This record gives sequence, C-alpha cells and structure tokens, in this order.
Amino acid sequence: METRGRVVVVTGGAGGIGAALCRRFAADGAERVVVSDIDAQAAAAVAAEIGGTAVPADVAVESDVERLVATTMKAHGRIDIYCSNAGIAFGGGPEAARHGARLRGARPAPGDAGAR
Ligand SMILES: NC(=O)c1ccc[n+]([C@@H]2O[C@H](COP(=O)([O-])OP(=O)(O)OC[C@H]3O[C@@H](n4cnc5c(N)ncnc54)[C@H](O)[C@@H]3O)[C@@H](O)[C@H]2O)c1
Repeated sequence: METRGRVVVVTGGAGGIGAALCRRFAADGAERVVVSDIDAQAAAAVAAEIGGTAVPADVAVESDVERLVATTMKAHGRIDIYCSNAGIAFGGGPEAARHGARLRGARPAPGDAGAR
C-alpha cells in the first residue's frame, strides 16, 4: 500500500497494533497521521512522537466518529486511508448489541453482560 503523501486516520491509534500502524505510516512518509483513540493522553503522546495529530474519539459513539471525520476533513481536506482498527465485539452476537458493545481494551459499559 502506498502511504507516502497520504492523510491517514487510525482509530485505536494510541496502543498496540494501532500505534504500530501510526508509527509505520509516519515513517513511510504519510502527509499526516491522525491518531485517534478513546485514551486522549496516550493518543497525544503517540501523535507528538510521530509529528501527527491527536483526535480523541470513542468509536462506539457515532457522534465521536462523525467529529473525527469532520475534524480531519476540515484540517486536511481529505482522508485517503481510514484504518478502523479499534474493533467492536458483541457478546452473544449482533442481537445482543442492546446490552452494550464492547471494544477490545475498552472499559466495559455499565450493565454490559460481558463486562470484565
Ligand atoms: N492483537 C491481536 O492478536 C488481534 C487479533 C485479531 C484482531 N485484533 C483486533 O485488532 C484491534 C487492535 O488490537 P490490539 O491488540 O492492538 O488492541 P490493544 O488493546 O492493544 O489496543 C487497542 C487500542 O484501542 C483503544 N480503544 C479501546 N476502545 C476504544 C474505543 N471505544 N474507541 C477508540 N479507541 C479505543 C485503546 O485505548 C488502545 O489504544 C482490535 O480491534 C482487536 O480486536 C487484534
């Protein structure tokens, strides 16, 4: 994949695979890497390390995702690559979504049947 000169968004970009993606995209010459994560402080740290931009967002919250896209579009005019790395896991299948979507590494929602 050609990443040189691209505007890249990585959700869950403050840790694990997402942080590794951010570092690699930056090293490969991306124009801008937007590090998005539910952990604002950790996102800011990765963004500072790679010269990127931190945009805190919880991908389980639709308005957060809309704000992430809008903020990036306003600042950079486009999104060339969107890495939807922070994944949603549903305990018991999609029909159990009303019990609360959980994300790997995320704090469980109150009442989440799969809460750890
Ligand atoms: N590590 C593996 O072996 C593996 C295997 C298959 C799939 N995956 C998937 O790849 C993705 C990343 O895995 P990982 O091992 O790097 O996870 P990780 O737990 O190391 O890191 C996840 C990152 O996502 C952030 N995050 C958690 N909930 C979030 C939310 N609601 N909104 C935004 N950010 C959130 C965390 O703060 C953290 O920075 C996950 O979706 C995971 O399910 C991982």
